[in-house]
Amino acid sequence: MRIQLIGLGNVGRSLIELIENRKEFLRSLGFDITIVSVSDSKGTAVDEKGLDLHEILEQKKLGWKSFHKYVKGYTALEAIRKVESDAVVELTPSASGGEPGLSYIKAALMARKNVVTSNKAPLVVAYHDLMKTAEDNGVQLLCEATVAAHVPVFCLINSCFRVDELLKVQGVLNATTNFIIGEIEKGRSFQEALKEAIRGGWAETKYSDDVDGVDPARKLVILANSLFRKHVKLEDVNVKGIRNIETMVKRAQKSKKKVKLLCEITKDKDKLKMSVAPKQIPLDDPLATVNQGNMGIKFTFKTSKEVFVSAQFTSPTQTAYAVLNDMIKTNSPKPSCPSNLLYHARKSSEREHACTVKRFFR
Ligand SMILES: NC(=O)c1ccc[n+]([C@@H]2O[C@H](COP(=O)([O-])OP(=O)(O)OC[C@H]3O[C@@H](n4cnc5c(N)ncnc54)[C@H](OP(=O)(O)O)[C@@H]3O)[C@@H](O)[C@H]2O)c1
Repeated sequence: MRIQLIGLGNVGRSLIELIENRKEFLRSLGFDITIVSVSDSKGTAVDEKGLDLHEILEQKKLGWKSFHKYVKGYTALEAIRKVESDAVVELTPSASGGEPGLSYIKAALMARKNVVTSNKAPLVVAYHDLMKTAEDNGVQLLCEATVAAHVPVFCLINSCFRVDELLKVQGVLNATTNFIIGEIEKGRSFQEALKEAIRGGWAETKYSDDVDGVDPARKLVILANSLFRKHVKLEDVNVKGIRNIETMVKRAQKSKKKVKLLCEITKDKDKLKMSVAPKQIPLDDPLATVNQGNMGIKFTFKTSKEVFVSAQFTSPTQTAYAVLNDMIKTNSPKPSCPSNLLYHARKSSEREHACTVKRFFR
């Protein structure tokens, strides 16, 4: 499988490490991954025979200073058009407007290359256009990592609940805010909790997209467009962030509840109501168990009723894992649920949840 990688940040570097560490296992499954180009914001390194992954990580750290395969100014767009490959893995930052990822994904699909992305922004701006372009060109656009990193969403719904009617989605979809709320529960102020989140690598210094609810709202738009097949925009989501939630958290603690930045899509006849807002959750709701930087989603179906799925989120390696799994799917005869998911039914004392999904790493 010849891969072009765009973006060598947290996820891109973790992906390279993961591919290198799992090389033998991947080969044993018949997946021989060769990375033929890597691009960052300033240039591209190319080797049609395959780049040495250790060398890429080292040279990126050193700023490519003496690496002859890296050409400054050679853009990702040129690389997509000129270098032969099976798939483009697009891992650039999510910025409003969708660029630069939008142009990269379009170009790759039009060049009949499969695309895997963890970047929400292009899908928020042009979900249906991009999916149609993929279909017209006979290739796949996979985006499991865009919504809640490695929590299985598209894979789960497409494999296990294809013919049920989805009525509602409720999720804790932002790791940063969930971590901050957890720190406030420990008695910290919002500002102290935010500082702790930045110190621990949970939040970036540019934290507004997270604490003001924009990042989870983007995820809702992707879910609404994909799972409910609607045409919705970011403006259709009612968004409230977590800057003023200290009092709410204290009140919730007194009444034995948890505060979560809850992302909700509710189907009302043929319309969708979408919101992101801090809400008090009863302790017997499985979403109340999604703590620290973890993420989880509860789906409500007409027939299957409630299905809850969550995953422990500790680092971008897990996002990279979801990307790697999508890469493998582009090369598999049939898209399928990964075999390392264990499904088991779980009963809580108050409610029944149809199934909990746990992901086990090898
Ligand atoms: N971090 C996570 O766990 C996580 C989870 C889910 C989704 N995501 C999404 O995954 C994407 C990547 O996240 P990240 O944390 O890896 O971001 P990051 O650390 O900021 O890395 C972004 C990478 O993209 C490169 N880049 C920026 N502009 C570019 C351009 N015009 N052309 C080519 N490359 C460009 C950057 O180049 P330089 O190295 O030259 O700056 C950098 O290597 C984002 O969209 C993010 O929202 C991340």
